[in-house]
Amino acid sequence: MNTVSQTKAKQIRLKRDDLFKDPYGLYKRLRERGPIYKGSILKQPGWFVTGYKETAYILKDSSFFTRIPLPEATEKYSHLKQIQSKMMLYMNKEDHRKLRLLVNKGFTPKQIAGFRPLIEEVVDSLLDELIVKEEFDVVSEFAFPLTSLVIATILGVPEEDRDRFRAWAALLLQSIDFSRSHKTLEASDQLAEELSEYFSSLIAQKRAEPGDDLISMLIKENDCTENELISTFILLVIAGHETTVNLISNTIYTFLKHPEQWKMLNENPTLAGSAIEEVLRFESPTQLTARVAMKDTEVAGKHITCGEQLYLMLGAANRDPDVFDEPDEFLITRKKVPHLSFGLGAHFCLGSTLARLEAQIALSRFSKRVHTYNQTKTEIKWRPLTGFRALEKLRITVQTSN
Ligand code: HEM
Repeated sequence: MNTVSQTKAKQIRLKRDDLFKDPYGLYKRLRERGPIYKGSILKQPGWFVTGYKETAYILKDSSFFTRIPLPEATEKYSHLKQIQSKMMLYMNKEDHRKLRLLVNKGFTPKQIAGFRPLIEEVVDSLLDELIVKEEFDVVSEFAFPLTSLVIATILGVPEEDRDRFRAWAALLLQSIDFSRSHKTLEASDQLAEELSEYFSSLIAQKRAEPGDDLISMLIKENDCTENELISTFILLVIAGHETTVNLISNTIYTFLKHPEQWKMLNENPTLAGSAIEEVLRFESPTQLTARVAMKDTEVAGKHITCGEQLYLMLGAANRDPDVFDEPDEFLITRKKVPHLSFGLGAHFCLGSTLARLEAQIALSRFSKRVHTYNQTKTEIKWRPLTGFRALEKLRITVQTSN
C-alpha cells in the first residue's frame, strides 16, 4: 500500500458497535477501501471482505478453512471447545463431509416438505391467538414459538423441555459470535457441560425407545461418535432457533419500513417466495462468517498470508452494486436474488430449505390475515451481535383483513 492510501486507511473510523448499530453504513465505508480491507474492528485482526465475487470465491475454495473454535482460549472453556470442535460448522475436508452427509439425510427436500402441514397448523393457531390480542411481540410470541416447535419436532426433544431452549440457543449463539466476552464464554462453557449431559441422557432414552425423529435416525446409522452426535444436536438447536427467528422477525420489520412493498404483497400474495429471498438479501440474519487462509495466496490483488483470518461480510456482499441494481432498495419483485445469506460451497446452510419454508408460510399466512400493522411506541433495538442481524423485540399492533 502506498503512503497516501495508508494515511487514508487510518482515517476511516471502524468501530465494532457499528456492526450492529449501523452495519450498512460500515459496509459502505469499507467498500470504499476496495472489496477486501485489512483492519482490526474485531478482537482478532483480519481481512474484511465486502465484495460479492471475493466472498463467493473464498467460500468455495477449500484452501480456506472454516474458522477455528475459540481461537482466543486454548486451555479455558474446555467443555465449550470440545463441543464446538465436533460441530460440522468448524470441521474441514473429510471429517466435515462424513458428518454432513449423515445429518443431511434428515434434511432432504422431501423430508422438509413433509413438515408443511405442521408449520401451517402452528402458524394458524399462533395467529388466531395473536390477532385477538391485537398487540404482540413478533420475536417472542410469533417467530420463536414456531421455529422452536419445528426444530424440537425434527430432533424429537420432549415437549416439556422446549421452553428452556430459547435461553440456551441465545447464549450459545453469543458464544459463536465474534462479540463474545469472557463472561459469555464462562456461562456458555457451563451450559455446554449441562447440555452434554442433557443430550447424553436423551440419546440413551432414544437408544432404548427409538422414535420417528432425527436423534433416533442418527443413532441407528451408528456412524457418529457420541461426541459428534451431541455437538450436532446442539448446533441444530442454535441454528434451528436463532437464525430462522431472525428471518421471520426481520421480514415483518422490513415490510413495516416499506409499506408500498407490503401493499404490493397484499395485492399479489404469490410474491411471498420472492419477498423472502429479498429479505434474506436485504436484512440477512447471518451478516458475517469467517475463514482462515491455509496457504499464502492472493485475493483481489492483496497478499494474504497463511494463517490470517478473513471476515466474510455476507450482508455487504448482498448489497454489492456490481451484482445488485439499487442494492439499498428493498424490492420484492427482483427477478434474480443470488444472495449469499446461506453461505456457499461445502458449508452451505443445511437448513436453508426448512428456513425458507417456515418463513414463506409465516409471511403468507400473516399477510392473508393482517391488513395493516404498526410498530408500537417501543424503540427498535438490535441485539449487540456482530455476525447476526437479530431484533431484541418487535412489538406491533395489527388490523385484520376482514
Ligand atoms: C434464515 C435462517 C438461516 C440462515 C440465514 C442460515 C445461515 C447459515 C450460513 C451462512 C451457514 C454457513 C456458515 C459458514 O459457511 O461458515 C449456515 C450453516 C449451517 N446451517 Fe444455517 N442458516 C439458517 C437456518 C438454519 C436452520 C433452520 C438449520 C437447521 C435446522 C441450519 C443449520 C445449519 C448447519 C448445520 C450449518 C453448518 C453446515 C456445515 O458446516 O456444513 N440453518 N447457515
